Amino acid sequence: MSIIELENKYTSGVYPKREVAIVRGEGARVWDEQGRSYIDCVAGHGVAIVGHCNPAVVDAVCQQAHTLITCPEIFYNDVRARLMERLAALAPDGLQRVFLCNSGTEAVEAALKLARLSTGRTCVVATMRGFHGRTMGALSATWEPKYREPYEPLLPGFRHVPYNNLDALRNAVDEKTGAVLLEVVQGEGGVNAGSREYLLGAQELCEQSGALLIIDEVQTGLGRTGKLFACEYHGLIPDLLCLAKGLAGGVPIGAVLMGPRVCNIQPGVHGTTFGGNSLAAAAALAALDYIVQNDLPGQSARKGAWALERLGRIQARVIREVRGLGLMIGIELRQKATPYLRTLMEEGVLALPAGPTVVRLLPPLVITEQDLAEACDTIERVLTA
Ligand SMILES: Cc1ncc(COP(=O)(O)O)c(C=O)c1O
Repeated sequence: MSIIELENKYTSGVYPKREVAIVRGEGARVWDEQGRSYIDCVAGHGVAIVGHCNPAVVDAVCQQAHTLITCPEIFYNDVRARLMERLAALAPDGLQRVFLCNSGTEAVEAALKLARLSTGRTCVVATMRGFHGRTMGALSATWEPKYREPYEPLLPGFRHVPYNNLDALRNAVDEKTGAVLLEVVQGEGGVNAGSREYLLGAQELCEQSGALLIIDEVQTGLGRTGKLFACEYHGLIPDLLCLAKGLAGGVPIGAVLMGPRVCNIQPGVHGTTFGGNSLAAAAALAALDYIVQNDLPGQSARKGAWALERLGRIQARVIREVRGLGLMIGIELRQKATPYLRTLMEEGVLALPAGPTVVRLLPPLVITEQDLAEACDTIERVLTA
């Protein structure tokens, strides 16, 4: 049986599949079982920031696997302690404590719970087109009806307001609001950047109303948008900052960075078996070192600006708009994106959708200029055909 047949036989069925079996990766390239290589602008849904099989991460994982793979947080651990120190040193001002978990949705889930503990309030204001994950709390904050409807009723007390509209946010936040949950740039929702006025206005509103500001940087974090944290573009300082995806170079991890307004935390109020495990912590330390030492945020800013300009010059009727920040790029089409994604794959470029009509590019930040140029040439060919 082929790989595809085998997976089709046993898979849960929850994922829409593409007809290719990926068996190897290096840098910004992946290879299928026939040995054909692809320029990977999916990058594991934006995970492979430092590139596939980054040697620094591979070495750290191998070494740690020989030393200690798992160690729950009821014990202290050398690599976890160093990772927490490193995260606190890199984080926006004041975010000095860390909760470690295993995915983006878990980071959001933890942030929602910590906001409720801190404020004693149960209501949450999130945004239309916002995406925060698939567990019941994070899903309650996620907007897309097709993700939500099969699971309703979800948690009570969640409201969705138009993104980038400060008046709508002001009208929605009241004395029952425990948290406002925002992305700096909406990813799944179509690559929509929040304005400085909106984001700083949200921060001020939270300070005044007693709600906590949760910023979800699961997709934008760790250099993706051209800064280590997209918050840095605006001097935005949230109470809770969610990270995941590329933090451990491809090894599953999530993290919540917490500011001084997060309080009322007693031992036992939250937890997860694998949180802060030594293997993921070692991988994250290596990935963070690599990101900082190689200035991946700077590389992302430069390469992203080049790609935006290059893609913006494509003369194709089907393109409505090209937008993005760093190497988080959306090409909004006048038609459905899926058929174009299929053709791009046939032409050797893997890309993502973001909503029905946006082609999204989240390549590894280490992508070579040559591969980026080749990806853009292919996109031009496919969109002008
Ligand atoms: C902004 C944002 N938050 C949360 C999540 C959920 O992360 P995970 O799929 O690791 O649960 C995602 C995933 O794409 C995301 O983009």
